[in-house]
Amino acid sequence: MIELRILLGFAIFLCLCSCKHTEGEYHSLNDKIEEEGKKYHGTDISSETYIGDIETLEITEGGHTFLIPERKGQLKSYACTECHSKPLSEMQNNANAQRAHWDIKVVHADENAMNCATCHNGNAMDHLKSLTGNAVDFNRSYKLCSQCHTTQFEDWKGGAHGKNIGGWSEPRAAMTCVNCHNPHQPQIESKWPVQFNTQKVKERE
Ligand code: HEC
Ligand code: HEC
Ligand code: HEC
Ligand code: HEC
Repeated sequence: MIELRILLGFAIFLCLCSCKHTEGEYHSLNDKIEEEGKKYHGTDISSETYIGDIETLEITEGGHTFLIPERKGQLKSYACTECHSKPLSEMQNNANAQRAHWDIKVVHADENAMNCATCHNGNAMDHLKSLTGNAVDFNRSYKLCSQCHTTQFEDWKGGAHGKNIGGWSEPRAAMTCVNCHNPHQPQIESKWPVQFNTQKVKERE
């Protein structure tokens, strides 16, 4: 009789074990992620507080919709047509022509491949221009970069290159290329790791 009861107890124990939520219950890992993920939907975590005062615009590129910072308000010499009211040739080729933008030099691709006119249209300065001559809004300057830097552009759309503002919570907001790279001189300088100064430590002792 005792043996029977032990056997019964063991059977119930086994049953309880197999009723627990184990990975085997789901058909695949994707099912598991989807099912378990439901618990996290409807949270009130939002990146809006981090975006704060940054003015943004929404873009959709290759199936990804996200926000990027507005740029025109940040450019000190916008609107360009405040000075560029006539063709560049007229502004440059007269006796009392003024020099401007002395602080801007192109240190980017070599000068055979790139000059000011690669990205700026002397006859319509308030817009950037694509390699084929189409107007590109200053707020969407990533469309210039993507013509030549396809790898980084693809990565950026998915969130692998560049940086999100306020993490991955909705609405997703990301820095745009010109937030980190100066288009005229886009290289990021290499940084050396800060060194641990053993001398300073000794002096403090
Ligand atoms: C305060 C006046 C002023 C404003 C604002 C201004 N420009 Fe200019 N820009 C000039 C003058 C003057 C020239 C012609 C003399 C020269 O080339 O230095 C010029 C020349 C240029 C050139 C030709 C440079 C070269 O070496 O061929 C480009 C490109 C240019 N501007 C772009 C812009 C863009 C883009 C903006 C707006 C974001 C802008 N400028 C706003 C005054 C201005
Ligand atoms: C690779 C493309 C590219 C080239 C080449 C280029 N620019 Fe630009 N330029 C841009 C973009 C993009 C912006 C907007 C940057 C931003 O949003 O911060 C800009 C901005 C400017 C501005 C406004 C800057 C400000 O802060 O107000 C001026 C002026 C300008 N460019 C002049 C020039 C001149 C002059 C040359 C040639 C010596 C030149 N650019 C070459 C892409 C280019
Ligand atoms: C017409 C083609 C063209 C356009 C448009 C262009 N680039 Fe470039 N870029 C180049 C070339 C060519 C080089 C130099 C070769 C290299 O280092 O890959 C370069 C170099 C760079 C580098 C440095 C790469 C390194 O290894 O240090 C960065 C960063 C960069 N570009 C960012 C940008 C950004 C941001 C824009 C848009 C504002 C832009 N580029 C627009 C062609 C382009
Ligand atoms: C949040 C800042 C940030 C943004 C936004 C950003 N980049 Fe970069 N990018 C970097 C840094 C930092 C590096 C240097 C990485 C390194 O040295 O390893 C870099 C490197 C690059 C390089 C050099 C090659 C490489 O991968 O190391 C290119 C080209 C480039 N970026 C283009 C772009 C373009 C095009 C965009 C927009 C579509 C963009 N970046 C947006 C920060 C940024």
